[in-house]
Amino acid sequence: MNHFLDVADYSPSEIQDILDLAIKLKKEYFVGGNKPLFKGKVLALIFQKPSLRTRVSFDMAMRHMGGDALYLSPAEIGLGKRESIADVARVLSGYVQGMMARVFEHEHVIELARWSSVPVINGLSDFSHPCQAMADALTIIEKFGSLKGLNIAYVGDANNVAVSLMHISVMLGANFTIANPEGYDMTKVAMDTGASLAKTSGTKITYLRDPHAAVKDAHVIYTDTWTSMGQEEETAKREAVFPPYQVNSRLVSEAGKDVIVMHCLPAHRNQELTDDVADGSHSVIFPQAHNRLHAQKAVLARMFEVA
Ligand code: CP
Ligand code: NVA
Repeated sequence: MNHFLDVADYSPSEIQDILDLAIKLKKEYFVGGNKPLFKGKVLALIFQKPSLRTRVSFDMAMRHMGGDALYLSPAEIGLGKRESIADVARVLSGYVQGMMARVFEHEHVIELARWSSVPVINGLSDFSHPCQAMADALTIIEKFGSLKGLNIAYVGDANNVAVSLMHISVMLGANFTIANPEGYDMTKVAMDTGASLAKTSGTKITYLRDPHAAVKDAHVIYTDTWTSMGQEEETAKREAVFPPYQVNSRLVSEAGKDVIVMHCLPAHRNQELTDDVADGSHSVIFPQAHNRLHAQKAVLARMFEVA
């Protein structure tokens, strides 16, 4: 079954092929619309958490390509609460041709995939955000031609977005540096996977505490919220620890002059990212958000085996 749970489940060339397809589908979309490759297909959108980009871009991706999407809110199916994940997976498999799930625990999307007889896509878990990483890579390719030889610096919380970005970066030939506070490190499993991917591609991963050292020679500076969904009770504690990791104009000025600034959004403006940087000349945050649509069309096309 063609699930899409993590970028590291695929080979670098498979990920590159999906990105090449995304570039093709994006071009096609803007010159006259996509072909209805998803005709007769419905994607269930299962959400345990809120969303703007993931929800709307998957829905629109399905519609632009002749298919349909069905939004299932956290209150509706009660994944693992009202009904076991295994039962939800087997019931839904008889109604729809694919599922996208945004879950609290990564194990839940794995469980869904284990029992589903249609493709399952990870739309964010507490471990990773692979669909975001595909859009991120697409955005970097559009700016620099490829990821090969680039220095990608992530500053802030070593969260789900950072993990997927690290994995896709080293898979596609970039060096990855992360600066995060002590006590907020990546999990060992994320680091071990990163190390093995970097070894294969001959790239380097550097773990730092100092954000200034991290952005030196960076082509990309990336940040994300200090408090992810599901960590709300830690907000005050995190807001006391993370301010030195703010991406502001001073930090950006310490990188190369062509550096791009990225954020998966939603941004907490003037916390992890200042307004002047978010809306300044280095920022690509909106094209990056729009690329979710195009990257996901390509992921879906591969999952459905129609392109
Ligand atoms: N970046 C992202 O996944 O945004 P949403 O939470 O709005 O889907
Ligand atoms: N790290 C954030 C990403 C939101 C798209 C979270 O998990 O809430």
